[in-house]
Amino acid sequence: MDTANVAEIAEMAALGVVYGVTTNPSLIAKSGRTQAEVIPEICSLVDGPVSAEVISTDCEGMVAEARRLMKISDKVVVKIPCISEGLKAVKILAKEGIKTNVSPFIGRLDDIGENGVALVENMVKVFRQYNLDTQIIAASIRNMEHVEKVMLAGADIATIPTKVLKEMLLHPLTDKGLAQFLEDYKNSLK
Ligand code: G3P
Repeated sequence: MDTANVAEIAEMAALGVVYGVTTNPSLIAKSGRTQAEVIPEICSLVDGPVSAEVISTDCEGMVAEARRLMKISDKVVVKIPCISEGLKAVKILAKEGIKTNVSPFIGRLDDIGENGVALVENMVKVFRQYNLDTQIIAASIRNMEHVEKVMLAGADIATIPTKVLKEMLLHPLTDKGLAQFLEDYKNSLK
């Protein structure tokens, strides 16, 4: 899930449809709490990785933050912006065995007239071709079609906002069919 809303994560985790969580500074701000409060709670709700993003924009600051964040839980993955200083930080953190997330934002690419899904398709092709030891996480997912397409493309992970995840659980035929089954059963008892 791509959210810092603990109640929503707990709700979806109970359904068994969430493995990990990603956050960013905007999502943390929206939760009305601090990163230090929210990240440990999220780690207690899911079995998989939890991305916490750095606030610094210089390599030294990012590395220091990453080392602090890692102390929260071994589930923490440090989300780093894809800028030169960020890449420098990733290199240092990788040597220390600290996992990092530098994910492509597909919805935001669509917003500026590019094709986010096509980027993921190309990344999968290239990463596999060169046997790169990196998982591909499709982020900034905006709709169910994005989820379907990035999975078909072979992305390792899709990080999905609550609204889209909830939409994936709904189908009008399921509701219609269930109502009919219950109605038929009730009538048979009359
Ligand atoms: O993890 C993706 C997030 O950081 C950006 O997503 O939906 O704000 O474009 P969004």
